[in-house]
Amino acid sequence: MKARIIPIVRSVRTTLPPGRDLVAPPEGELLDLRQRRVRDLRISVTDRCNFRCVYCMPKEIFDDDYAFLPRSKLLSFEEIMRVARIFVDQGVEKIRLTGGEPLLRKHIENLIEQLAQLPVEITLTTNGSLLRKKARALKDAGLHRVTVSLDGIDDAVFKRMNDVDYAVADVLDGIAAAAEVGLAPIKVNCVVKRGANDDQILPLARHFRGSGHILRFIEYMDVGSSNGWRMDEVVPSAEVVARIHAEFPLQAVDANYLGEVAERWRYADGGGEIGVISSVTQAFCATCTRIRLSTEGQLYTCLFAQSGHDLRAMLRQGAGDEAMRREIAAVWRGRDDRYSEIRTAATILPGSKVEMSYIGG
Ligand code: GTP
Ligand code: 5AD
Ligand code: SF4
Ligand code: SF4
Repeated sequence: MKARIIPIVRSVRTTLPPGRDLVAPPEGELLDLRQRRVRDLRISVTDRCNFRCVYCMPKEIFDDDYAFLPRSKLLSFEEIMRVARIFVDQGVEKIRLTGGEPLLRKHIENLIEQLAQLPVEITLTTNGSLLRKKARALKDAGLHRVTVSLDGIDDAVFKRMNDVDYAVADVLDGIAAAAEVGLAPIKVNCVVKRGANDDQILPLARHFRGSGHILRFIEYMDVGSSNGWRMDEVVPSAEVVARIHAEFPLQAVDANYLGEVAERWRYADGGGEIGVISSVTQAFCATCTRIRLSTEGQLYTCLFAQSGHDLRAMLRQGAGDEAMRREIAAVWRGRDDRYSEIRTAATILPGSKVEMSYIGG
């Protein structure tokens, strides 16, 4: 049966926030087919995680029989560094380490120490479970800040979301550890799934108001093929903002930089800032400057890509830096992705997209 094409995106952000001019970039800058530059490199350092969040690594699929990558297939730190250096030469300003859970990768602080020699911001997205143990070493290695995922403040709801019975108090303690060593500003990300944790929006807002941490609500996305995504489980950011605004009046804030994924809001009474990430209802592909390196060295030009470009093969066949640079530049120049803008029922149904835990969030 032919799938009906139902447009899902309600609006597309077309106005650019103040910052760099996309229309007239500096001469010689690497641009893709839609005139976007490469600014953020997201590196997934492991496909494993100690949580089984229902929207990301559902237990039924990521069970004891699931074939995670063997060690030999992971990029080594040396290989990651070679790729990272080339990207920084091509204009990358921010490197984010992701996973799976990046703190599960052995000796991750050694990689951070090397990355920190590059003239870029180094950040990391974590579920927070190992932060108490690792915050000091991460800070000493040169990590600038962390983003912590937290899908509820009520212990029972949080445990249902992580599906491994992990207590919310331990993540909060991890956040406190990160704050103590100065891995700030700390961002706290909550993926909202209707009927599962949308009752946590206000309690989370109340908890983090005035804490100095930036709470952000993310629309549940149709990444990967295993989470059984449904549009009616998405809570539009406009609804999140309206619910919070009804209790704590909010004012819109300008973006920090061109292409920032979160739309910023501040409490009118000075209680700090929150953000909403509306990748489903208000796509931000027009300013997307992100590229992703998977755990095994595949380069993905979009979170929703169906295939990547194999850099590991090149690295292991002895390609020199110049050949690597040319390959990477060619991949970016040929980039035309804008999945979230053209998301339709037809693009969602056939499932062969890479999993978020493999490519990194
Ligand atoms: P900072 O502004 O540096 O804090 O980073 P960020 O806003 O990119 O934050 P982060 O990396 O934590 O991204 C937050 C979430 O936004 C991710 O976990 C994804 O769910 C979503 N997201 C990030 N990048 C993309 C993207 O390129 N496309 C889509 N569709 N969603 C994205
Ligand atoms: N939709 C939105 N965000 C997701 N993440 C993982 N899966 C999804 C999804 N389906 C987010 C996590 C975390 C980051 C690694 O990616 O909550 O913040
Ligand atoms: Fe693990 Fe993060 Fe995925 Fe949850 S969202 S299963 S913490 S990688
Ligand atoms: Fe970028 Fe793809 Fe996300 Fe659009 S859907 S913002 S192109 S990663």
